[in-house]
Amino acid sequence: MHRPAKVLVTGGAGFIGQNFVHHLAAQQQPPRIVVLDALTYAANPSSLEPLVASGQVEFVKGDITELGAMEQLFAAGGFDAVVHFAAESHVDRSILGPDAFIQTNITGTYNLLKCALADWTARKLLDKARFLHVSTDEVFGDLMPDEAPFTESSPYRPSSPYSASKAAADHLVRAFTRTYGLPGLISNCSNNYGPYQHPEKLIPLMIIHALQGKPMPVYGDGQNVRDWLFVEDHCRALLEILLRGVIAQTYNVGGAAERTNETVVRSICGLIDERVAADPAMRRRFPDSPASAGGSCAQLVTRVTDRPGHDRRYAIDGRFLKESLGVGPREDFESGLRRTVAWYMENDQWWRRALSGDFSQWLARNYDLRALKS
Ligand code: NAD
Ligand code: TYD
Repeated sequence: MHRPAKVLVTGGAGFIGQNFVHHLAAQQQPPRIVVLDALTYAANPSSLEPLVASGQVEFVKGDITELGAMEQLFAAGGFDAVVHFAAESHVDRSILGPDAFIQTNITGTYNLLKCALADWTARKLLDKARFLHVSTDEVFGDLMPDEAPFTESSPYRPSSPYSASKAAADHLVRAFTRTYGLPGLISNCSNNYGPYQHPEKLIPLMIIHALQGKPMPVYGDGQNVRDWLFVEDHCRALLEILLRGVIAQTYNVGGAAERTNETVVRSICGLIDERVAADPAMRRRFPDSPASAGGSCAQLVTRVTDRPGHDRRYAIDGRFLKESLGVGPREDFESGLRRTVAWYMENDQWWRRALSGDFSQWLARNYDLRALKS
């Protein structure tokens, strides 16, 4: 087993990175942890403040697209592991503005690979260190309803600028591993959900709009399928891959929970209706939700124009990870969604902060274009 002494977590102020830092810091003998993050619109890292205050985590503000800054970070860092989350991660933003995706996801990853390779070569750590690149199942394109789930050997067929940029990054990691002996590992996971996810993604957006009495915009016919992975299950899998994974191997991480978007949205409505009906404090906190007036959030569900190039279905075959490292999802989707809805209802101060930036401009840009269908 690899036991890193000092781990660099890029993108550790984002959704999955933040959850991963908590998971890593809670281990019995945690390594030293450095979080590197550019603090883009997607970062909302208040949960890291206690870890930084107690000295368990060092935070560095920095941009992976700036090679000089990354070289300085590695020269002073003394890292023997990198877990690379930093990315532009939202498909809709990649459709409306792909440039940042090319810069961060491709050039930024390339910069980190160069820095890690140079540093670990100089310090003779190539056979001891590890570079775990966190990627997505979207690199495999989409599946029709009757097709078998993605395996580690599924061909790459990305559909959006986001998934194409992640695919390019995966290829670079694989190339550095094979050609230069960088100790690289790749994980490709399905859609995550859980606490600290930015309000632009499906599940938080729908919860927040239901609580605020705003339209809940379902793209197209609502029959697109995602395989939902609770973020804590993902973080557990990532740590196992980092500690016990085989160098040059790719691991698929899935939630074994395929659901249509329509099903997810209706489930969210049911959970909010139930909680609001039972809890007067929630009625006071969210007076604009139809649930607070005795109605149902389902009346807010609205069909809108589909996403261009919208992938129909993602599904992960998680057998290889289970058989090789003994890791699989523990949280089932219904209980994970219940926990997630409760977390957003109880932590509105967290997501209200995220809404205060450019978020209203984003809503106007992405949704005003979409004519209402029903
Ligand atoms: P996120 O958008 O919530 O967080 C990304 C973080 O990266 C933010 O804190 C942001 O400030 C930082 N960042 C962006 N550009 C940067 C730059 N140039 N330099 C330094 N930091 C930068 O993303 P997430 O949902 O936590 O996803 C993390 C990783 O997991 C991404 O690589 C994503 O492709 C992958 N992934 C996510 C999902 C999902 O469902 N969320 C699924 C599969 C894979
Ligand atoms: P999203 O959370 O953006 O993740 P991804 O595109 O990476 O899978 O979207 C999940 C699904 O939800 C996807 O099929 C698009 C759909 N969707 C909506 O129907 N309405 C929305 O407002 C959003 C953000 C997504």
